[in-house]
Amino acid sequence: MKRMLSGIKPTGQMHLGNYIGALRNFVNYQDDYQLFVFIANLHCVTVYQQPAQLRKNLKDAIALYLACGLDPDKCTIFLQSDVFAHAQLGWLLTCQSYMGELSRMTQFKEKSQKKEDGITAGIFTYPCLMAADILLYDADIVPVGQDQKQHVELARNLAERFNNRYSDTFIVPEPVSPKVGSRIMSLSDPSKKMSKSDETNKGCIYLLDDLNVARKKITSAVTDMVGKVNYDKINQPGISNLLEILSALTNESIDSIVNRYQDKGYGQLKGEVADAVCQCLATIQDKYHQIVDSDIIESTLKKGAEVANKIAYKKLKKVQKKMGIDIF
Ligand code: AMP
Ligand code: TRP
Repeated sequence: MKRMLSGIKPTGQMHLGNYIGALRNFVNYQDDYQLFVFIANLHCVTVYQQPAQLRKNLKDAIALYLACGLDPDKCTIFLQSDVFAHAQLGWLLTCQSYMGELSRMTQFKEKSQKKEDGITAGIFTYPCLMAADILLYDADIVPVGQDQKQHVELARNLAERFNNRYSDTFIVPEPVSPKVGSRIMSLSDPSKKMSKSDETNKGCIYLLDDLNVARKKITSAVTDMVGKVNYDKINQPGISNLLEILSALTNESIDSIVNRYQDKGYGQLKGEVADAVCQCLATIQDKYHQIVDSDIIESTLKKGAEVANKIAYKKLKKVQKKMGIDIF
C-alpha cells in the first residue's frame, strides 16, 4: 500500500473550501493508502498566534477532521510538535538548502516584495521544515493545493540532493491536487478563492457557521445578469461556483444539474445549494459537538504520536548516521 501524507495548518477556522478541496478527499484516501495526517502546529507560529486562540484552532481542526470521517483506526493523526524529529530533520535539511532556492518560494517572495513588517526567519526556512515533515515518513504521495506544490517540489529536490550526496535515504514524493473542487470561490466575489482571510465574512462559509447564517450567505451569493444556469466559469463565475459546490456535495455531475435547470432560475439553484450545504454542515457539526469535549482528541493524538515517533525516529537516526553526526 502506498503511503500518503498531508499536513494542515489551522491558523483560522476551517471553511467549506477546505472541506471540499482537502478534508473530504482524505476521508476517501484512508481506505486506499497508508495515510498520515498531522496538524502542522510548528508551521502555524511562523506568524504570531494568540496562544488561547491557537489552542482552540488546533483542537477544532482535529475535532473537525474526526467529525468529517477521518478514522484513527484507519490512518495516523498526530500533532507535529509531538514528534521532535520534525524540527531536528528540519534543521538538517535547512543545512542542505540554499538561500537562493528559499528566496524563490512564493510565500516568502510575496511577503518580502510587499515589504511586510516582521517577516520572521521561520517564514523563510519553513519549506525546509515542510520537506522534513514529508521525507521523515517516506511518503509516496502528498495531496496539496496548488499553492503548496512548490514546497513539495523543494522536498523532492532536497531528497534527491541528499540521496546523491550520502546514498539512497529518502523516497522522492509526488504532489497531487484534487480534480474537482480544488478551487471553491468566494460567494461574495467569485473572482477570489473562498478563504479565511475574507474580510467581510460574507463570501466564506465556515464549517461551524450557524446554519441560518450559512443559508443567508448562499442566498446572497453574487451571480450575474445572464439569467440562465450554465457552467461557464468565465462569464458566469458565481453560478459555476454554486454548481461546483452542489456537485461536490451531492456527487451529481455538473452536466446533470445544468440539465435539470433548463427552465429554472437562480433562486431555485441557490435554495438547493443551501439545502445541500446545510445538510452537510449539520452532520459535521453534530459529530463535532460529540467529539470536541470528549477524550477522543487526546487519545487519538496519543496513539498517533506513538506510531509517528517510531517511524520518524528511525529515519532521523539513519540520516544522522549517514551525515556523520551520530558517532555510535
Ligand atoms: P489553507 O486554508 O489555505 O491553509 O488550505 C488548507 C487546505 O484546504 C489546502 O489543501 C487547500 O488547497 C485547501 N483549500 C483552501 N481553500 C480552498 C478553496 N477555496 N477551495 C478548495 N480548496 C481549498
Ligand atoms: N504548508 C502547508 C500549508 O500551509 C501545511 C503543511 C505543512 C504540509 N507540512 C506539510 C502539507 C507537509 C503537506 C505536507 O497548508
